[in-house]
Amino acid sequence: MEEEIKSLLQKHQALLVAHFYQKDAIVNLAHFCGDSLELAKKATSDSRDLVIFCGVGFMGESVKILAPHKRVLMPKISCCSMARMVSSDYYDRSVDMLESYGITDFIPITYINSSAEVKAKVGAMGGMVCTSANAKKIFERILQENKKIFFLPDRCLGENLANMYGLSCGILGVDNKEKILDSQVICYNGFCSVHQLFTPEDIDFFRENYKDIKIVVHPECKPEVVKKADFVGSTSQIIAYVTSLPASQSVAVGTEFNLVSRLRPHAKENTFVLSSTIPECPTMNETGLNDILKLLYSYDQGRVHNEIVLEEHIRKDAALALERMLEIS
Ligand code: 13P
Ligand code: SF4
Repeated sequence: MEEEIKSLLQKHQALLVAHFYQKDAIVNLAHFCGDSLELAKKATSDSRDLVIFCGVGFMGESVKILAPHKRVLMPKISCCSMARMVSSDYYDRSVDMLESYGITDFIPITYINSSAEVKAKVGAMGGMVCTSANAKKIFERILQENKKIFFLPDRCLGENLANMYGLSCGILGVDNKEKILDSQVICYNGFCSVHQLFTPEDIDFFRENYKDIKIVVHPECKPEVVKKADFVGSTSQIIAYVTSLPASQSVAVGTEFNLVSRLRPHAKENTFVLSSTIPECPTMNETGLNDILKLLYSYDQGRVHNEIVLEEHIRKDAALALERMLEIS
């Protein structure tokens, strides 16, 4: 199957990209893998105009937003469950709620794990996107404006950033009006169901049982987990950190299972998943090699499936939010 995929990619001059959470067989075949930021940048700047994107919907959309002339096809258009937690309607409702509290002067920042429609709303309001890799830079830039930040959809990433800069933080719809009025960072109440699995008790367990173990987590983990970790970073930052450790160093990693299980093939006995439950992202795991082959077969026969198509006014406003991010990072 791999050879057929390769030859169809070659025939159609197609670029195959994959997020690090994809299955091993796909990661091995991809022209390149990356975190959300790297994928958006590299797939956009690559010379090939046909992009086969293995990941979740918002990632393929980001390429289409930034490079509308490209054709972006996804073997499975699976949606990140966190991105589904906020629609453009819910965005409007949140803004209405903020306004009903008298909060009108704020800057919205949406995590890249959100739909094109939500990015468009944020772009139209003068806000921008961030990813786990550049969130600190974006925050530092926005803080210079001395305005409140409305951060969505990930309340954990928002709270983790607020903690890092010593800022007050509240969750809209969860905390009362007084707390929201007092907060410099106001978060939407979204989260990643996979990263919720990691707990402070998991960290205690590993620290008690493995001397000098390093605890590494993704910033979508809960604040009480992030506070106890030795290293916090995006998927590519996690890979860079963990693979730089000596093989004898034990490490427990709090992120998606596929990534962790292939991190240190030479040091498997010292590399642990920071959970007693397998933290598998169901939507990332929907794509298989057979889906890529089916998609390419159809394309070869003139039938185009699973193409990312965006209304131009949405794409344009979403591009404002993504381009503001790229200018800073
Ligand atoms: P990265 O941008 O760090 O790859 O994260 C994407 C993601 O969905 C993590 O759950
Ligand atoms: Fe979305 Fe969480 Fe899966 Fe990442 S791990 S794609 S945030 S559901």
